[in-house]
Amino acid sequence: MRPPVHIAVTGAAGQISYALIFRLIAGDLLGPEQPIVLRLLDVPDAVGALQGIVMELVDCASPLLDDVVITSSPQIAFQDADLAFLVGARPRTQGMERQDLLIVNAGIFSEQGKALNETAKETIRILVVGNPANTNALIAMTNAPRLPPAAFSAMTRLDHNRAVSQLAMKCACTVAEVRRVAIWGNHSTTQFPDIHHALIRGQPALDCVDFDWYAQDFIPTVQKRGAVVIEARGKSSAASAANAAIDQMRNWLYGTPDGDWTSMAIPCQGQYGMADDLVFSFPVTTHDGQYQVVPGLELNEFSRKQLALTERELLIEREMVAHLL
Ligand code: NAD
Ligand code: LMR
Repeated sequence: MRPPVHIAVTGAAGQISYALIFRLIAGDLLGPEQPIVLRLLDVPDAVGALQGIVMELVDCASPLLDDVVITSSPQIAFQDADLAFLVGARPRTQGMERQDLLIVNAGIFSEQGKALNETAKETIRILVVGNPANTNALIAMTNAPRLPPAAFSAMTRLDHNRAVSQLAMKCACTVAEVRRVAIWGNHSTTQFPDIHHALIRGQPALDCVDFDWYAQDFIPTVQKRGAVVIEARGKSSAASAANAAIDQMRNWLYGTPDGDWTSMAIPCQGQYGMADDLVFSFPVTTHDGQYQVVPGLELNEFSRKQLALTERELLIEREMVAHLL
């Protein structure tokens, strides 16, 4: 029997976690032979709800579930964790931008960054989902100087998946026939969903769709998809977010397929001229648990303008939380 992998999930009583946790014990992230210890964190008022989730976990009789820890202490949640999904944060409601959450949620990530610094393994991988995800990841990372920056990423995989699906629908092909889509920058309405390098059945995507559709329909659709889901559901996306969290973590651990890449928001080290000390989404390939920004992509004037817009928004967000960095 393999030793269990400890997975911390914050905001474990919330709606994304409810869609995530049961997929983890079904083996959707680590496969059907890897036992798991879940370390579930939420605020003290939600511990009762966590007890209910534990009952449901037990009632699944999953052979993969080795143990469950429930706690309102981030130090306990992150102790021994191999992987962490930082989901716990307030979601936006109708009419809000994700950036409006910065002030309410930033404190959570400075506290959790410090806790990660105190108790997490140096080999931990941390995926920040709670919004505004890029800047929350920056806060957590800055407050955890003992951990390598490469241990942190923020989730732009939902945007990536949305872009792939929109393109596949437009081109009447399968999602598997779409490759090399990229999300650059912030998980917000300034993100740049880029299909300049994308391929549809091996052909350049921009030979398959018209540029006006790309610029005026596709880009805003992907950028605003979160708000449209909130309007329709009355709540922010949950199952698709949990699915994207699993996709992003799975690629991080096990690699991207040959000939393709994915999008991850990662600590920027000046790639493509973007400012250092931002958590910025790039097209990345992954191998042996490490990510690498796809090098050498040509960026035309249109793309450069889009990158500058999203970089600027991240710089403003960073300024707003300077006291926590
Ligand atoms: P939710 O309100 O259903 O759940 C949030 C949970 O976090 C609650 O149980 C709450 O008690 C808990 N929480 C609050 N403060 C905490 C703290 N200090 N420590 C631990 N837990 C804490 O929200 P949700 O729908 O699950 O969304 C969670 C976050 O994910 C939101 O910020 C949302 O905007 C974001 N989100 C991000 C993406 C993305 O693509 N990056 C996608 C969807 C949602
Ligand atoms: C999403 O993209 O669905 C989430 O970030 C939720 C939101 O506020 O849009």
